[in-house]
Amino acid sequence: MTALHEAPDILSAEFAENPYPHYRIMRDEHPLIWHEGMQSYLISRYDDVEKAFRDPVFTSDNYDWQLEPVHGRTILQMNGREHATHRALVSSAFRGNELETKFLPVIERNSRELIDGLRDRNPVDLVEHFATRFPINVIVDMLGLPKSDHDKFHQWYTSIMAFLSNLTQDPDVMAEGMRTKEEFASYLIPIIRQRRQNPGDDLLSTLCAAEIDGEHMSDEEIKAFCSLLLTAGGETTDKAIASLMKNLLEHPDQLEAVRADRSLIGAAFAETLRFSPPVHMIMRQPSEDVELSGGVVPAGSTVTCLIGAAGRDEQHYANPETFDIFRDDLSTTKAFSAAADHLAFCLGRHFCVGAMLAKTEIEVGVDMLLDAMPTVRFADGAPAEAGVFTRAPTQLWIDRTPA
Ligand code: HEM
Repeated sequence: MTALHEAPDILSAEFAENPYPHYRIMRDEHPLIWHEGMQSYLISRYDDVEKAFRDPVFTSDNYDWQLEPVHGRTILQMNGREHATHRALVSSAFRGNELETKFLPVIERNSRELIDGLRDRNPVDLVEHFATRFPINVIVDMLGLPKSDHDKFHQWYTSIMAFLSNLTQDPDVMAEGMRTKEEFASYLIPIIRQRRQNPGDDLLSTLCAAEIDGEHMSDEEIKAFCSLLLTAGGETTDKAIASLMKNLLEHPDQLEAVRADRSLIGAAFAETLRFSPPVHMIMRQPSEDVELSGGVVPAGSTVTCLIGAAGRDEQHYANPETFDIFRDDLSTTKAFSAAADHLAFCLGRHFCVGAMLAKTEIEVGVDMLLDAMPTVRFADGAPAEAGVFTRAPTQLWIDRTPA
């Protein structure tokens, strides 16, 4: 293969402005890149990223340094039986009966409260007044923590996300992440102890009581899991809502189709996850040398799987650069399960435990937003996206004045 272009630098300003043309060059000409600054291999083709997510040779041991310093030890870095047991302890709260009976009312209440607050604002920034608040309010409410602490949670998850996305290893960002870990522990551990004494009907009490094969979670494990929930469930869904609304507003015919038939919200969400995923990269660490397109990645190295690039792979999707909620090569029924035909929730044993919760939040939130906005357009043109690790519009100003 002769390369016409140099390998793109994912830490460059041009890349941050719009990664998609660079992703194409990577898939076509540089499917395996060693990035000196990140000390990591980069992979961009759908088949390679899928293999890295599914094949157990690719461990998640990278989270030992990437996440443990800020969260403590979480299920993301566990493997084998330890992972299966811990996942089973937490997963039932995020799907099925528990989700529908216990947490759907929490989701509806939090969406309604925020939308009521939007009514007198026009134009309004949907990112500031809805997307950044809704998922975190839901998690805080599910855990039975006071919403008056919202600003604290927002500050913590921003600091944890900065630590995780710190591709250049900036020491100030690292120090801030460590401070957050201490602050979060001093806040939550006493509350966990209280819930063990006086359990309520909330997720935190459920986590305290959860038992599989005689195993319970320790205070430290519950604290680490809650810390993970703030970022895994907050930042991701926040960005998904902003990108979904932007994608629909850029395609008014598809927006009107969704407005007329709300059962299409799931398809719009699935297509957003393929076209403009909230999380653009996830890392893995192979335990043996592995052959991928473009060469062999050595055992023990860090491999950065570019989800944003894989979602636009022309070998996998027809017209991948087109946002189309009606495409027939992405299945809405599978999109929120481990059989998904996109990679935004990962695949394999670490498949996102909160996928059904995210789907429910998006279905409820978008449905209520559309009801509250009988007419809607960008107030000031399509907004720019920002971010390399996670990516979405940072503002989404909309105007509801009838045309
Ligand atoms: C659009 C929204 C979301 C996206 C794009 C997303 C994405 C992901 C991805 C890519 C992973 C795999 C990480 C890895 O293996 O390295 C993951 C795992 C996880 N997600 Fe999500 N997520 C979303 C929403 C949520 C929500 C709402 C929650 C819960 C409140 C959640 C909780 C988790 C947890 C606990 C894991 C770890 C699972 C494991 O290691 O077994 N996520 N998510």
